[in-house]
Amino acid sequence: MTSPSDSAVGAQTTADEPLRVALLGCGVVGSAVARLLTDHADDLAARVGRRLEVAGIAVRRTGVERAGLDPALFTTDAEGLVARPDVDLVVEVIGGIEPARSLILTAIEHGASVVTANKALLAEDGPRLFEAAEQAGVDLYYEAAVAGAIPIIRPLRESLVGDDVTTVMGIVNGTTNFILDKMHTEGSGFDEVLAEAQALGYAEADPTADVEGFDAAAKAAILAGLAFHSRVTADDVHREGITEISSSDIAAAKSMDCTVKALAICRSEIVQGERFISVRTHPAMIPNSHPLASVGGAYNAVVVESTNAGRLMFYGPGAGGDPTASAVMGDLVTVARNRVRGTSGPGESAYANRRVMSMDDVVTRYFISLEVVDQPGVLATVAACFADHHVSVQTMRQEASLRSDEAGARLVLVTHAAPEAALSATVRALGDLPQVHEVLSVMRVEGE
Ligand code: HSE
Repeated sequence: MTSPSDSAVGAQTTADEPLRVALLGCGVVGSAVARLLTDHADDLAARVGRRLEVAGIAVRRTGVERAGLDPALFTTDAEGLVARPDVDLVVEVIGGIEPARSLILTAIEHGASVVTANKALLAEDGPRLFEAAEQAGVDLYYEAAVAGAIPIIRPLRESLVGDDVTTVMGIVNGTTNFILDKMHTEGSGFDEVLAEAQALGYAEADPTADVEGFDAAAKAAILAGLAFHSRVTADDVHREGITEISSSDIAAAKSMDCTVKALAICRSEIVQGERFISVRTHPAMIPNSHPLASVGGAYNAVVVESTNAGRLMFYGPGAGGDPTASAVMGDLVTVARNRVRGTSGPGESAYANRRVMSMDDVVTRYFISLEVVDQPGVLATVAACFADHHVSVQTMRQEASLRSDEAGARLVLVTHAAPEAALSATVRALGDLPQVHEVLSVMRVEGE
């Protein structure tokens, strides 16, 4: 008779031997994982059923002092480390596409289970990695790839897998939430707050991935794929950053009892009887009564709506060494337990094979404010422009113009939900009207 550990894939170890962990990367997350593996070794052994031992740590440069870690563990030969026959589990926290992809594939080929925090890689080439893991009978876990410490992958992959998820909407980038929150509470401009965020270490020296929405798009792709059992890549995600958000947009949101948030929105959509996915990341106004409106600072939060569970909200730190390491450690214990039992967890679920719909067909509401000539008939001309594009106006308000140079008025409108293409065409046509001095703010309105 074979015991579960005899039939376990990967490194040939016996029940008394430790499971050996290779760490790829020793930055803020990697070093926190290495420390937790040492500091909590006894508890982890009790939870897993075998001890977890660090086999090696791949870094770009050795000879750098790393407090509390044995210098003999460090190597610059990452490829050699993941191919070692005594390695059972690999933790990848170096990020980026290469060499992370090759290292993960090599680790899987050699029978190791993998825990990764690499959202960019999963959103670009996830299916290839999942297929390799499936073929090798090993695990590929990635809780830390989306929203740091917040458990959101496992709830979607396991807890809610018997339900029908309809919407996943979240704040999944702490840097942009920090910036928008400061702009809202202090009235400061984008550039000023970005500089402050960089000085405080919230924003990178090159903030492009965060402020242009690439980071959030990768996370949205992962969430949409999981929620709707389909393959979604970062290229499928409609992406807009926050660099164009001005103080007057923020003031406009406040006047509407709303807050501007950078959102990742994944929805199940039915168009002419066929099920699609819509997936996008962009700034939007949400009512202050919405649960995401009060998520401040660099925090993340994700709201999941499903047919039976209703609305669930997950909130917490979305980045940082220790919080991200917490998610990595949760995965590590899980894949180690699977290894001890000679099994593996759920693989990719993409059976529904739903297509991502064009952004042009996505139905949203818009907030629009514009400076117009203050003369009889202007209101009718503006209203006709909406009507010509089959966009229904929900509310319209006229205010005093804030411009001192010309006699005019300010119009503030919110539309009913309409297809994105119709709304964009309306905004372009408004800008061309001789009665319109300037279209000041255009922003989607989300959330009930
Ligand atoms: N840079 C990200 C953020 C964290 O600001 O939330 C890592 O995905």
